[in-house]
Amino acid sequence: MAEKEKLRLDKLLTHMGLGTRKEIKKLIKAKQVVINGAVANDPGVHVYPKSDIIEVQGEVIEYREYIYLMLNKPQGFLSATEDASEKVVLDLLEQKYQTFDPFPVGRLDRDTEGLLLLTNNGKLAHQLLSPKKHVPKTYYALIQGVVTEKDVEAFGRGVKLEDGYQTMPGHLKILRSDLESEIELTIYEGKYHQVKRMFESVEKKVTFLKRLSMGPLVLDPELKPGEYRELTEEEIGLLL
Ligand code: URA
Repeated sequence: MAEKEKLRLDKLLTHMGLGTRKEIKKLIKAKQVVINGAVANDPGVHVYPKSDIIEVQGEVIEYREYIYLMLNKPQGFLSATEDASEKVVLDLLEQKYQTFDPFPVGRLDRDTEGLLLLTNNGKLAHQLLSPKKHVPKTYYALIQGVVTEKDVEAFGRGVKLEDGYQTMPGHLKILRSDLESEIELTIYEGKYHQVKRMFESVEKKVTFLKRLSMGPLVLDPELKPGEYRELTEEEIGLLL
């Protein structure tokens, strides 16, 4: 946000998770909000979020526009902000993060686990999802069936999906090849159900799927399914 951009005081404070508009109004009425040393009395007053010093109940509010969260998505949740009947990944976040209106960058299937970036930075999301950018995504998967070098070669050339779409080359690494195989696959595009459909094209079935990385962002092994944390400054720097 440019330095000269102004924001309504109540909007800024709700954005920072300090309460609903109604609650903020009450705080202001109770003279609990101070702007540059002067008690605020109008929720609609415009402030410069980056340069004005705003205190609520004696504490200076650290303004920030964007948040970046790394979630280890658990199975059973939709990669969406809301849904009429199903659980969505936003349900996993504490209120203090929900107030920033984050959304998932891309989608993982309901039964897929792993790295999901949540942010309210639309420009970054757009860049990561742009088909032109070919951002690599690496998945770990369990496969029903023996994955062979022939599959590695086929994926390396790109495979034809059941709808006729020819995928870009992907990098398939066999970790264990048996009646149930373990693999890692890196792809550079993000078609619907892509990993599952690539394996279907070689007559095999994905029984477990987890995303390990997306571009420079790698899933933190400390995060259990359902857990999340803010990105570090360094991780944000890699993405921007
Ligand atoms: N490919 C899939 O098939 N499913 C996902 O969730 C992600 C990639």
